[in-house]
Amino acid sequence: MYTPEILESLKKVEATRDERMKTEPRRMTADEKDALLKAYHPDYRADGFKEIKIGPNKGQKAPAELADLLHSNSRILGENIDISKVDYDVDVLVIGGGGAGSSAAIEAHEAGADVMIVTKLRIGDANTMMAEGGIQAADKENDSPVQHYLDAFGGGHFAARPELLRRLVMEAPDAIKWLNKLGVMFDKDSDGRMVTTHGGGTSRKRMHACKDYSGAEIMRTLRDEVINRKIPVVEFTSAVELIKDEKGQVAGAVLLNMETGDYSVAKAKTVVIATGGAGRLHYQNFPTSNHYGATADGLVLAYRAGAPLLYQDTIQYHPTGVAYPSQIFGALVTEKVRSLGAMLVNKDGEAYAHPLETRDVSASAIIRECASGRGVETPLGSGVWLDTPMIEILGGEGTIEKRIPAMLRMYLNYGIDMRKVPILVYPTLHYQNGGVEIGGEGFTKAIPNLLVAGEAVGGIHGRNRLMGNSLLDIIVFGRNAGKAAAKKAKDVTIGEMTLSHIDDYAKELKSAGIEAESVSPLLLPKYARHER
Ligand code: FUM
Repeated sequence: MYTPEILESLKKVEATRDERMKTEPRRMTADEKDALLKAYHPDYRADGFKEIKIGPNKGQKAPAELADLLHSNSRILGENIDISKVDYDVDVLVIGGGGAGSSAAIEAHEAGADVMIVTKLRIGDANTMMAEGGIQAADKENDSPVQHYLDAFGGGHFAARPELLRRLVMEAPDAIKWLNKLGVMFDKDSDGRMVTTHGGGTSRKRMHACKDYSGAEIMRTLRDEVINRKIPVVEFTSAVELIKDEKGQVAGAVLLNMETGDYSVAKAKTVVIATGGAGRLHYQNFPTSNHYGATADGLVLAYRAGAPLLYQDTIQYHPTGVAYPSQIFGALVTEKVRSLGAMLVNKDGEAYAHPLETRDVSASAIIRECASGRGVETPLGSGVWLDTPMIEILGGEGTIEKRIPAMLRMYLNYGIDMRKVPILVYPTLHYQNGGVEIGGEGFTKAIPNLLVAGEAVGGIHGRNRLMGNSLLDIIVFGRNAGKAAAKKAKDVTIGEMTLSHIDDYAKELKSAGIEAESVSPLLLPKYARHER
């Protein structure tokens, strides 16, 4: 339960509730938002970034921790790996066993390809599994993909690649149908229509959900489908380097068995990178809502092989990570809590901003409140209130248990009943807006036959993503990558396999004056215990 100091502030939140509920806080103007972002968003903190010294994005900035990985040596530099001894030979190699990788594998299999998934943990150990609030799709009468496009384009600061965003919104209704058919148990009303809600920055209610464990339900279904189709999944095995051929095409990957430390070689006509996000790099020391393996591996693999990144300097901090209790610091408090009516309130009981501003704006406003002494002190820093009892007042008793049961349980474990008392939140590192640059079909622009899907892609959402567009992009771009990879594999002839790009990269590091001491990809967070 709460400390006496926290309880003091809580009294003010309760005392102001009736008055606050009479008027919704106004939305900020575009100028107000711009000024707020520049002053408080972590993307604008120069000391959180470094210049990339080599490779296709040389001269651009990246979060310091990512730049350090790009400035590291390959794990297999100097290792004697005989890539002519092939352990796995497939049409399509999918690197990553989350939502995007599984969708890609299912569609590649459906298209008749010989496909294999390799994943450094288990299938389903991925950010998809952690996603809570829902998946967007404009499939109701009062909505359209055009409106979805406009919301996402504006929310992403007009920086999304139009061909990617167009595909995302146009294929969204079919993605929902596909998932529904595969067996995802979406929330439905008594007529069988899907229940949809707002997310930050949406002009229509288009968030489809499975209570507040939408990602877990989607991942459960995709994993079952992979298993039912008997698609081979090589678990606890990381791709540590791409293999190319003498024509510069991707030709497979070098794999590392995470348990034995042994290397193996996978040869493939096409490769799909679906390795997910980077939260476990803890940019600017933020806690994270991401799963244990989110260490930007795919970006490193692709970059070392010569593929450019896009918007690698823009990161999403989800406004509402847990600020208290400390045991679950940084865990996600789904935006759906605000969709259902909870207001953001500072320590003095003021609703200082509209609860459904876009995420970057909302996170910046929380950081501002805390930095200006209007946050509530907690053992690990500070936070603002999310007035959750409002949900029960607005939606009726039982709404929290019905719509966000996992959230309720998470807090009850620590003696906090969010139906009765508000909860404390602070931004948590949630999503990498940037990643590897791709074209509309999912192929990288620089390396033939290499595709990328899911959070490892840059450009779908521009410089800020709206809630529910990530579960959507893993399905849309995962499926498309699988189909495109299977089709392309039919025409590919692999030449002589080579790892020469690794030596070239090491030389480039040297000529840039970088004496790399560390190796990448990181694979597991820095605080992982290594028992071998
Ligand atoms: O708030 C959430 O439930 C997160 C959703 C998302 O990142 O799309």
